[in-house]
Amino acid sequence: MVDLSSDLGFIKLKNPVITASGTFGYAEEFQDFFNLDILGAFVLKGIYKDPKPGNSPPRIHETASGLLNSIGLPGPGAKELQKIVKKIHKLTKTPIIINVCGDTDEEYIEVAEIFDKMDEVTMLELNISCPNIKMGGKCPAQDEKHTYKLVNQIKHITSKPLIVKLSPNVNDISSIAISAEEGGADCISLVNTFLGMAVDLDSKKPVFKNLFAGLSGPAIKPLALKLIWEVVQSVHIPVIGIGGIFSGKDVLEFILTGASAVQIGTINIVEPSASVRIIKEIEDIMIKSNIKSLDEIKGKLKI
Ligand code: SIN
Repeated sequence: MVDLSSDLGFIKLKNPVITASGTFGYAEEFQDFFNLDILGAFVLKGIYKDPKPGNSPPRIHETASGLLNSIGLPGPGAKELQKIVKKIHKLTKTPIIINVCGDTDEEYIEVAEIFDKMDEVTMLELNISCPNIKMGGKCPAQDEKHTYKLVNQIKHITSKPLIVKLSPNVNDISSIAISAEEGGADCISLVNTFLGMAVDLDSKKPVFKNLFAGLSGPAIKPLALKLIWEVVQSVHIPVIGIGGIFSGKDVLEFILTGASAVQIGTINIVEPSASVRIIKEIEDIMIKSNIKSLDEIKGKLKI
C-alpha cells in the first residue's frame, strides 16, 4: 500500500490529481466516464457574475504536441452555476473548486462572495491569468501590484482557501507569486496557458480572431516545470503544478520539482477517463520504486 494523499496544509486531498478548469466542464459531463469520487479535487469552468458567450469560433487549434485555445471564458453566470454546484455535490463528495473570473476587480469580488457562501464549495481559484480576454490587453497576473491588491481584497471577503492561478506570460513569475502570497493566497496554481499564435496559409489570416491564443499540452511541460521550480523556491505556500501532464510519471516529476499537487487539463479533452489511468500509474510507479508517500519525494530534486 502506498499513500497517495496530498497535504496542502488547509486541506488533505486523497490524491494529487485535480482536473483543471475549462477542461472538465461542470464535472457532471464526466460521470459517464468514471466515478468522480476518485479525484483529489476538480475545478469547474471559470465563472463570471453574468452569463458570457465567450469568443466566436474558431476556438481551438491543434499544434505539434499541443493545443491552442481561444475560448474566452463562456459560462452561464454565477446564479446558474450555484444550481449546478448543488447538483454535483449530490453526486460526489470530491472537493469542488470554483474558478473565479471578473472583468473588473469589483466583479471578481462579487463572484467570490457568491461562492464563499456555499457550503458545497471547498476552495476558490482566482483566475487572474486567462490570456483570451481583453482587460486592456492584460490580465491581473501580469502586474505585481494588481495581483497583490486583488488577492488581498478577495482574501478579506472569503473564509474559503484561496488558490491564485498564475500566468506564464510574464518576465518574472516569482515576483508575481510573492505578491499573491503577500496578498494572502493560501496556494499558487501555475501555469495557465502560454500565449501563442497560428496562421492559415490559404486565407493568409491568423487562425484566431484575437490573434493570440493559449497553448497547452505536452509541448509546454518543460516550460511549466521551470516556472514551477522558480515559484517553489520563492514562496512558502503550496504550489499546484499545471502544464502538459499526460501520465502518472509526469505527475511524479512535478511533485519531485516541488509541487504539492497537480492539475491535469488538455489530456481530459483527448482522453476523458485519463484521471483513472494517471492515478493508477502514480500508484504503480510508487510501488515499483518503493516510494511510500508523495512527501518522500516532494521537492527532493537533487540540484
Ligand atoms: C478560456 O476560456 O479562454 C480559457 C480559460 C483560461 O485560460 O483561463
